Amino acid sequence: MASSSLSVVLLLCLAAVASAQMSTTFYDASCPGAQATIKNGVVAAVSSDPRMAASLLRLHFHDCFVQGCDASVLLAGNERNAFGNVGSLRGFDVIDQIKSNVEQACKRTVSCADILAVAARDSVVAVGGPSWTVSLGRRDSDTASETLANHDLPAPSLSVTDLITRFAAKGLNHTDMVALSGAHTIGRAQCKNFRTRLYSEENIDPALATSRKATCPQLTGSGDSNLAPLDDTTPDMFDNAYFVNLKLNKGLLHSDQVLYTLAGGATEDIIDGFASNQDAFNNAFAAAMVKMGNISPLIFPQGQVRRICSRAN
Ligand code: HEM
Repeated sequence: MASSSLSVVLLLCLAAVASAQMSTTFYDASCPGAQATIKNGVVAAVSSDPRMAASLLRLHFHDCFVQGCDASVLLAGNERNAFGNVGSLRGFDVIDQIKSNVEQACKRTVSCADILAVAARDSVVAVGGPSWTVSLGRRDSDTASETLANHDLPAPSLSVTDLITRFAAKGLNHTDMVALSGAHTIGRAQCKNFRTRLYSEENIDPALATSRKATCPQLTGSGDSNLAPLDDTTPDMFDNAYFVNLKLNKGLLHSDQVLYTLAGGATEDIIDGFASNQDAFNNAFAAAMVKMGNISPLIFPQGQVRRICSRAN
């Protein structure tokens, strides 16, 4: 008993030390221009391609859900070949450019994992969403796992129960999950990811189904990569229209719509709240992004600061 409470105390101390090593001022002395350099890179990329905001936000999500926010998603091969990633994730070149700009100012100082976390926040801000303060000091992994990515990344075919389980496994509750799904207020999805919904689900607005079918034929293999906006109303603006749309059966992915129509009481109220109150969504989204960004970071002396984000040093 005494020894088990001693280990609890020890664990708490270790946790305190770990979190003390992440801080919002982490690079203030070692690389004072880091955050501005990242922001400039994001703003430039988003102004030439508005969808890039969505793509950078998703990169951070796919990073954090697989062995924590350690930039494993950026390593060539491995995770990048997982089902949900290959032929789908975008923005690697933008991150590479930002990293090279940051390296020019301060060598081997700012991790790729931190660049992803800041770039995700700046992307959201660039398209009209809320801001939040990012804790810094994550370090980069020297490994990535395709198998783990296939296991941990949620697929669009999942039920609400399975989605809840996946998010709970990362320490994220129902409100976090619904708020984070609101990231689908921006960005695009490929036909192969919503075809089944168009042709065999009933909880879909008929007009939306008809218009999406025009560029997403029923036959598997035809038009698989044709794109449609995840938020039909304001596809490139970060707002709460995604939630208003769910209430109208206008979610594009199965995993979007089930949060409202097949949730069995688990998440409908949260969606009602976000659909009727933009600030409530913004606040919950910012809070959930902070939580997601803190999933299992590598803290010094673990990990490394990669010189090039796509390969270990
Ligand atoms: C709830 C579970 C989730 C599932 C099943 C899911 C699934 C998907 C799928 C299938 C796509 C389209 C990919 C393609 O067709 O190439 C997509 C796009 C996207 N996802 Fe999610 N997602 C989920 C949660 C999230 C979260 C938590 C975030 C961020 C916080 C996010 C951000 C995005 C963004 C921004 C896009 C558009 C990317 C672009 O246009 O490049 N998603 N998601």
